[in-house]
Amino acid sequence: MSDFTSGFWPIYISVITLVSIIGTWVFLKSQTTRKLAPGEKAELMEHTWDGDLQDLNNPLPRWWLGLFNGTLVFAVVYLVLWPGLGNYAGVLGWTSKGEYEAEVKAAEAKFQPIYAKFLGQNIVAVSSDPEALAIGKNLFLTYCSQCHGSDAAGARGFPNLTDKDWLYGGEPDTIVATITDGRAGVMPAMGEALGPDGTKEVANYVLSLSGRPHDAALAAAGQTKFAENCAACHMPDGTGMHALGAPNLTDSVWLYGGSEGAIIETITKGRNGAMPGMSQTMGTTSNKEAKLHLLAAYVYGLGGGTPPAAPAAEAPVADDAAPADAGATEAPAKP
Ligand code: HEC
Ligand code: HEC
Repeated sequence: MSDFTSGFWPIYISVITLVSIIGTWVFLKSQTTRKLAPGEKAELMEHTWDGDLQDLNNPLPRWWLGLFNGTLVFAVVYLVLWPGLGNYAGVLGWTSKGEYEAEVKAAEAKFQPIYAKFLGQNIVAVSSDPEALAIGKNLFLTYCSQCHGSDAAGARGFPNLTDKDWLYGGEPDTIVATITDGRAGVMPAMGEALGPDGTKEVANYVLSLSGRPHDAALAAAGQTKFAENCAACHMPDGTGMHALGAPNLTDSVWLYGGSEGAIIETITKGRNGAMPGMSQTMGTTSNKEAKLHLLAAYVYGLGGGTPPAAPAAEAPVADDAAPADAGATEAPAKP
């Protein structure tokens, strides 16, 4: 009880409370001085109402007095044990904050072993454990659904997490990194550099990459502009780059829309999708590491996860793809 705005209020409250209790007791006492001697009859007071309704001066019934005094004793005992009198904390030292913290602590202690168990397993294993997925789903609904949707299917600007199309990659470690530290997609605004005509040409070239209806002449004119302005991030063949989160432009999955208008808007104004770092968002949440682990496993298990690369010793030589292809692999090679 330390949150009063000034020292006056605790005193004000204490005085009113104590004066009420003592005042009630004194009043009651003053009204119960008269006892009936054996055989004595209550006197008729002055008043008679409604013809025959009379006012006698009987003493208060003893059971009623006892009950009333009981409430007064209860009030005093309560005020000694618990906070209630201004700043006085009470003998028991109870606080609502303390009670809440004790409950959280008990819950933590209860769930800690479960979290520890899953933290000790790798993400692929956790992603097929029904109990882990149930916890992961709850965590997802708490921390992620407002952006990615409760079914994780995303929306415009918020990626679908249930498919095999990844901006940054679907390997367990990559998903953990994405969730833990967040991501910032940087697609620079190029409208000024390319001009309206140039933008339209590149947009038509982008449309051609995924076989969408486009103007062939414009697309042909856009091809060199794409190689000059876009290939550094989206790769020369347009298949994107996980390291930068540059989307694959050759497939049918669009983050911001695959119409000519949407693509022109993307190129002209740029895009800056931001995935918040959950490590920060969660602050000092207990079992944070395990929760991130379970969230990653949940996302991995949504169906689009890329199995981790086989350990180097067992990797076939052919796996040694050029690093430039990093973003190109859509369908993961099963180890
Ligand atoms: C404030 C909105 C927001 C919240 C909350 C959010 N995300 Fe995201 N997330 C995004 C955006 C936007 C992107 C795309 C970033 C970009 O465009 O570069 C993204 C990207 C991702 C990716 C990368 C997808 C890919 O294709 O590589 C994963 C995985 C992901 N989020 C998982 C999660 C999980 C799990 C949570 C909850 C713990 C979460 N996100 C919470 C907005 C959010
Ligand atoms: C600096 C790297 C970079 C360059 C250069 C760049 N992009 Fe991007 N582009 C990105 C990133 C990163 C994203 C994803 C933005 C996000 O996540 O919000 C993106 C998104 C897009 C999208 C949206 C795709 C979708 O699924 O909706 C299109 C279309 C696109 N870029 C086309 C282009 C074209 C055309 C050029 C050249 C004129 C270009 N980009 C140049 C990095 C780049």
